[in-house]
Amino acid sequence: TNDELHERIRAAKATLGDRVVVLGHFYQRDEVVQHADFVGDSFQLANAALTRPDAEAIVFCGVHFMAETADLLSRPEQAVILPNLAAGCSMADMADESSVEECWEQLAEVYGDLDAVDADGRVPVIPVTYMNSSAALKGFVGRHGGIVCTSSNARTVLERAFEQGQRVLFFPDQHLGRNTAKAMGVPLELMPMWNPRKPLGGSSAAELADARVILWHGFCSVHKRFTVEQIEAARRDHPGVQVIVHPECPMPVVDAADAAGSTDFIVKAIAAAPAGTTFAIGTEINLVQRLAAEHPEHTIFCLDPVVCPCSTMYRIHPGYLAWVLEELVAGRIVNRIQVADSVAEPARLALERMLAAKP
Ligand code: 13P
Ligand code: SF4
Repeated sequence: TNDELHERIRAAKATLGDRVVVLGHFYQRDEVVQHADFVGDSFQLANAALTRPDAEAIVFCGVHFMAETADLLSRPEQAVILPNLAAGCSMADMADESSVEECWEQLAEVYGDLDAVDADGRVPVIPVTYMNSSAALKGFVGRHGGIVCTSSNARTVLERAFEQGQRVLFFPDQHLGRNTAKAMGVPLELMPMWNPRKPLGGSSAAELADARVILWHGFCSVHKRFTVEQIEAARRDHPGVQVIVHPECPMPVVDAADAAGSTDFIVKAIAAAPAGTTFAIGTEINLVQRLAAEHPEHTIFCLDPVVCPCSTMYRIHPGYLAWVLEELVAGRIVNRIQVADSVAEPARLALERMLAAKP
């Protein structure tokens, strides 16, 4: 039963003590979150991986790219464990290294030498990858002078990238890229979307020459479900409702909302609101339901009336957590995530550039 599972997890954690640290993303189910030593958004969890250099193992209750990031940032002796190896991210899978390399080569045909510095000290293109990408892509970005961003620091990172490059290639999430660049005043017509199936990504050389941000075609299958109609219905049915959405939502949804921000932004906005506020939230359902339970003084509901969990986050079942912890007690490390040496160094560089650019 679930009670037995929770007891097993507690017992294993008690035996392991400081030898293990359990990290949990906000989208994890409550049965997992209750066992986490740190709960946070992607940026906070990347930092959390740095705060316990003494722990032998970091058990990451989240998805694969987060565990890879923790491996990159932790000490080499520390084992990062993903309780279920099938917990991936469909958005991260939308940008693979060979497609991005191919794009880069085509951009070199348009812009010439991509390492050439202009009179302002800027190169033609700086690659920026969303945290939600493989370590190999972070490595690609690191090799080409680029930076990683999360949804909580995308604007700061883009500002930094524009200091160093005339334009940005942003992947995998088109929506985070578009929403962030738009908020910075970049006109939509200067944000062509790259299509790997078409020559020059489907844009003319002139369009690419003028481009400020070249967007990849990726998206989050959870956040793309939110619609402007849902926001209109929420406003109609709940006068005064505050609509907050994640910037992985499509641009019209972000534009129609009262605010958009990372999961931690949403958590803090709700905590700071006067009692009695009604919130319609556009993000993953486990977080929305937990916030509703933690804040009985507010009315909080999900914008999408059809429940929309992140199916891969949901693959971290407490049964897997119990298993990996008990294996650790027995002296065995299972489901270890280890980034290949060949990409680790540049990937770490791209992450460190992000950590240096405060949100
Ligand atoms: P944040 O936790 O950075 O807001 O990201 C949300 C998300 O989709 C993670 O996969
Ligand atoms: Fe990936 Fe979306 Fe799930 Fe986040 S919520 S892990 S972006 S599929």
